[in-house]
Amino acid sequence: MEKNRLSNSLQAALNTQMTKEAEAAQIYLSYAAWASNEGYGGIANFLFRHANEERNHMMKFLEYILERGAKVRVEAIPAPPKSPTNIQNCFEQVFEQEVDNTKCIYKIVKMSFDEEDWATWHFMQWFVKEQTEEETLALNLLDKIKIAGGTNASGEALYALDKDLQTKSDDAALAEEKTAMNP
Ligand code: FEO
Repeated sequence: MEKNRLSNSLQAALNTQMTKEAEAAQIYLSYAAWASNEGYGGIANFLFRHANEERNHMMKFLEYILERGAKVRVEAIPAPPKSPTNIQNCFEQVFEQEVDNTKCIYKIVKMSFDEEDWATWHFMQWFVKEQTEEETLALNLLDKIKIAGGTNASGEALYALDKDLQTKSDDAALAEEKTAMNP
């Protein structure tokens, strides 16, 4: 009896994405260590927390592949890119890596749609929303850095930003959750 409910192509794509989420965790981990070395404890804390979120994403893919009776393939994780050059550069790289991840998620959504694999299509919708949130969060942070002075931000402005990120929520409010009374 055939128990695998995933096509070979979706099984491969979901496994690749599982490793990509692990790679994202490593990237956040390396940026967090960099920020901590630079003395930005709050930013490091935010990035360490985010590394854990990415590990959770990895687990979601792993569990889903198993649930569908398919095979999990745990592979080597590519090394993160080199450390950022400053705080603005750090969050620019965070944003770019999230956009890159969104593109990979969209490809799997399209594959599942084309194959009429509605279970996978439905599973992937969680990630579509999550990616919108993560891109929004990174863009909001880039706005804050810009207001603080960008690459010319003063020590005081960076100190305030660092403090802010220590306790910042890990989620961004999305447009669909907003109202005229609560913009
Ligand atoms: Fe798992 Fe930041 O995407």
